[in-house]
Amino acid sequence: MTGMPPHQTESSSQPAGDAAGRPAGRPAGSAPQRLLLVGAGGMGRAWLETILAEPRAELVGVVDLDLEAARAALAAAGAPQVPVGDDVVALADRTAADAVVDVTVPAAHHRVTTDALVAGYPVLGEKPAAATVPEALSLAAASEVTGRLFMVSQSRRFNPQLFRLRDHARALGAAGVLSTEFFKAPRFGGFREQMAHPLLVDMAIHPFDAARLVLDAEPVSVYCEEHNPPWSWYAGDAAATALFEMTGGARFVYTGSWCSPGRETSWNGSWRLSAEHGTALWDGDSDPQVEDVRGGRTAEDAEDPATPARSAVGEGIAGSLAAFLEALDGGPTPMGEVHGNVLSLVMVEAAVESSARRGRVMVDEILERALAKAVEAEARDDVRAALASWSSAREALTGAPSVLPG
Ligand SMILES: NC(=O)c1ccc[n+]([C@@H]2O[C@H](COP(=O)([O-])OP(=O)(O)OC[C@H]3O[C@@H](n4cnc5c(N)ncnc54)[C@H](O)[C@@H]3O)[C@@H](O)[C@H]2O)c1
Repeated sequence: MTGMPPHQTESSSQPAGDAAGRPAGRPAGSAPQRLLLVGAGGMGRAWLETILAEPRAELVGVVDLDLEAARAALAAAGAPQVPVGDDVVALADRTAADAVVDVTVPAAHHRVTTDALVAGYPVLGEKPAAATVPEALSLAAASEVTGRLFMVSQSRRFNPQLFRLRDHARALGAAGVLSTEFFKAPRFGGFREQMAHPLLVDMAIHPFDAARLVLDAEPVSVYCEEHNPPWSWYAGDAAATALFEMTGGARFVYTGSWCSPGRETSWNGSWRLSAEHGTALWDGDSDPQVEDVRGGRTAEDAEDPATPARSAVGEGIAGSLAAFLEALDGGPTPMGEVHGNVLSLVMVEAAVESSARRGRVMVDEILERALAKAVEAEARDDVRAALASWSSAREALTGAPSVLPG
């Protein structure tokens, strides 16, 4: 089988098919999927618990460069008998795994995922898809070449309230402005306090990704400014404001700070959609509110029959694991399939570049430059050939042509 179906928006679902790219397919409802977890750090431990709690999955091994970290995580989760190793493909082969869950640091995502896909294993990987856009494009091409599913777990998408907001957006007619305010004051310590663009690179990918879902639209351009407030405890810029033009003409405005004590927003941020027939609000923690000025419309009227039942969207990483397992069992292509996810990472890279350049950046400029870099840097001949065959990166990811003028 060659190629995942890339030409779907992230919010759409596909007819049943072998989304995982497993040969011959497995009958639905068969034995639990045998999962190999890679990365036993902070988030790896959360995944470990989630996999152990999921009856449709079986944890068959844990890989980490630090074997002690793998053993300690398993002991803490009450599963010390699960085998550990430091080589993904070797342990996946030895344990007859069905798929790999990659929760390593972003710098390792490209290597771990490529190795697994090439060895025939579908991959569910933590966000971001990869450390850079060229690496993410390489992974999309590797998924095409191997015919294996690579799903990025963008866990904040798996939120029934967010889908509710998207339903309101669809019912309110043309979208004008979508805004997100994110103001928090966490004291993380560690790498986030040292990195160059902590808010944009580590956090903003979630609301950027959610904005694509809510607006059913893709980014065209961005103007962004970052700065570091004088009292900030971060080395890099902890505050940013970004204005995106989206396909269809709506604007998405994100403003946030990670050193903002007092009256903090939720972790999802505080949202407002201004549309043709009214306004929807979401505080990120409770059901969104809507006012439709045509009158007489209730929240239930706004529910879109195409949306999976809200209870079926699932929550957080458990929801994303459930969607992955369903795809492995022959279900629809899941949200987060790599082609559909990469533009969220591109939004981050474009915002960082706009801030550095102090000017508006066209998203297709970032995409085409990234594609050229990906072709140049690609180590595998088959993946390089796939990348080189793309007429444009946007088309390969979304099915829509490039929006660059000329
Ligand atoms: N969705 C969310 O809300 C959320 C929250 C936190 C972190 N994350 C993501 O989860 C991922 C992991 O973050 P974390 O906070 O757990 O990091 P971490 O540094 O705590 O743990 C990473 C682990 O991966 C291991 N590792 C690194 N390279 C490896 C390799 N090549 N092979 C095997 N193991 C390797 C490390 O030894 C470490 O144990 C990142 O991509 C991060 O962005 C997502």
